[in-house]
Amino acid sequence: PARALAAMADREPGSLEALNAIIRRAEPLVPGATQAVLGEGPLGAAIAFVGEQPGDQEDRLGRPFVGPAGQVLMRAMAEAGIDRSASYLTNAVKHFKFEARGKRRIHQKPTAGEVAHYRWWLDREIALVAPRLVVALGATAALALTGRQVPITRARGPLALEGRPCRGFLTVHPSYLLRLPDDAKDEAYAAFVGDLRRAKALAA
Ligand code: URA
Repeated sequence: PARALAAMADREPGSLEALNAIIRRAEPLVPGATQAVLGEGPLGAAIAFVGEQPGDQEDRLGRPFVGPAGQVLMRAMAEAGIDRSASYLTNAVKHFKFEARGKRRIHQKPTAGEVAHYRWWLDREIALVAPRLVVALGATAALALTGRQVPITRARGPLALEGRPCRGFLTVHPSYLLRLPDDAKDEAYAAFVGDLRRAKALAA
């Protein structure tokens, strides 16, 4: 299968459907995921959001951003005036990686090597969707898009995406907002909505 995949990878997919067919057939790098979670949204979307990897619910349902972090993102997008159905949503890594604890499946952050493994797909996906702006949600997305470790606290805001014909923007991952202590949540959420408003203006 690895050789077959390499052979497929040598052939440039001419459409998002062709690319998605390759991703769907690929084995997860780390075994365990139910399915590959593909990007969702229209070609030519003004904004493409790139997350880290599918979570537990995304893995079960096969759709990006349908779990708790996705709900935070959807609410913040609505508050920032960004239409979900006109946006493209995807992840740097296409398979859920987890550690089983009893019945629970605990999310495991992808390694830099895993991010690099999935990068070929993400690059083609972004090129085919051709958004005006790509929003990196968190450090993993920024690493996948730039090939560099980008410190969120210092680099939050416009993000240079060398070699791509679109703008970039870096903000926090919505799951970070879920993990904050209650007394810090409101301010951090408001800052996230503020970032999405800026992103929307950059994509106009
Ligand atoms: N977190 C992500 O990064 N992506 C998803 O699709 C869901 C949660």
